[in-house]
Amino acid sequence: MPLKTINPTATKAWEKLAKHYQEIKDQKLVDLFAEDASRAEKFQLKWNNFFVDYSKNRINTTTKDLLLELANEVELKDAIEKQFNGDKINQTEGRAVLHTALRGNEKPEEVKETLQKMKDFSQEVISGEWKGYTGKAITDVVNIGIGGSDLGPQMIVDSLQYYRNHLGVHFISNVDGDHVMETIQDLDPETTLFIIVSKSFTTQETITNANTVRNWFLKTAAKENVAKHFVAVSTNLESVKEFGIADQNIFPMWNWVGGRFSLWSAVGLSIACAVGFENYQSLLDGAGKMDEHFQTTDFKDNIPVTLALLSIWYNNFFDAETEAIIPYSQYLHKLVPYLQQGIMESNGKSVSRDGNKIPYQTGTIVWGEPGTNSQHAFFQLIHQGTKLIPCDFIGFKKSLHGNKEHQDKLMANFFAQTEALLKGKTPAQVEEELKDMDAEKASTLKPFKVFEGNKPTNTLLIDKLTPETLGSLVALYEHKLFVQGVIWNIFSYDQWGVELGKQLANGILKQMETKDFSQPQDASTQSLVKEYLS
Ligand code: F6P
Repeated sequence: MPLKTINPTATKAWEKLAKHYQEIKDQKLVDLFAEDASRAEKFQLKWNNFFVDYSKNRINTTTKDLLLELANEVELKDAIEKQFNGDKINQTEGRAVLHTALRGNEKPEEVKETLQKMKDFSQEVISGEWKGYTGKAITDVVNIGIGGSDLGPQMIVDSLQYYRNHLGVHFISNVDGDHVMETIQDLDPETTLFIIVSKSFTTQETITNANTVRNWFLKTAAKENVAKHFVAVSTNLESVKEFGIADQNIFPMWNWVGGRFSLWSAVGLSIACAVGFENYQSLLDGAGKMDEHFQTTDFKDNIPVTLALLSIWYNNFFDAETEAIIPYSQYLHKLVPYLQQGIMESNGKSVSRDGNKIPYQTGTIVWGEPGTNSQHAFFQLIHQGTKLIPCDFIGFKKSLHGNKEHQDKLMANFFAQTEALLKGKTPAQVEEELKDMDAEKASTLKPFKVFEGNKPTNTLLIDKLTPETLGSLVALYEHKLFVQGVIWNIFSYDQWGVELGKQLANGILKQMETKDFSQPQDASTQSLVKEYLS
């Protein structure tokens, strides 16, 4: 059954929210806290190792009730059931969306078989049992893929650096030849294993990189040695075989797993190699637990639903265009680029599920960097700029290496930033601060030192960065984006918008080879190509 088509702006809840927005938009968070001593507890969620504080949002209980009403009116429950049931909710591609089936308790047989194959393979590579063509153990694993076939594994491998083994794990994604050359120049073909990951096995970047790497390998090795050094993950088994990958080295993927949700499938093979299969399994388990929470918890206590509704509140009523995600962990430095694909490729849509142009805002722009570094980079704009930028702060109670001094300083900053964004600094406070300064100078300086405050934040405080909590965290954002797509009445699981550029690039490549400029093309692009060729 397809997802229902419900225009969110035609719901009663939307109308009420619009009215409610007028009443609440100028209210100060500091006043909301002053009026209600139990506010923090009221807007707090506790689940497993997650503590989510969303009390620093510009909401009251009516806002929450109305947002929940909106979720019910757009029949979110029905949409969630359809997704988990495997209904073909990716309607424009005629596919089910079942990445959740890769991490649940009851996995399909084909998933179990693939997991077993991943387990065996990763254990052989890690233990040194898998030998290269000269009999040496593998020292380096290179993932060749792009988008969902790169970002997910790379983000997890970096995030779980603490849990890594001796293997060097590298990622080649960009068709920029310098990326390949920089990566392979220090590698030894005798001890390097390449995992070519491409759901379609037609992606220009990946196939080009895979060919370059194979040619590099064949400079020292013979063709029959390819089987010991190249494996592939794909749905397109025919093209994989054509590339020369041995049957036993092919890991399947399925059409019901979208590229940007595929790290839970054999696309995660480099993760299993980097941190061992047990840790990879824990990652899946963590995601599975979040799936269960999302599927079974009442919306009012449901973390992904709550975060999605708050995001809708700012995007569609406060007209906030962007959201920042700030993980206070250097390990998570790739989390935001990863989430950017998930969130923006999914919800960057302007046509409703019934095929009409949408008159309201969809897909939030997501950005961010780890704290504390980002405090010294773009936080100025969040604190004192003209734009409203809701932020998610993600932090961990425990550090992995256990340095208390660093951890306390990190977390003091983590808490201080949301406090500063909430409170700001009033003119009276600035006056007090400047009271010893020359009066004229102080009065000139005063307006620049005032912070408006009233900037909304969510705080996700997690016990510790483990494969399991990381799995839960990633799944949380996956579900959040789905809820938003349901409410916006869009299809979150296709990505037609990336096709046009690919087609045009193929045309320009031909143009470069043939120097034929007779095809219609805008004058700007044509003169740029000519300049490049000159
Ligand atoms: O960017 C478009 C896209 O189709 C992504 O959705 C996908 O993750 C990426 O390209 C790579 O595709 P493939 O795995 O088929 O090479």
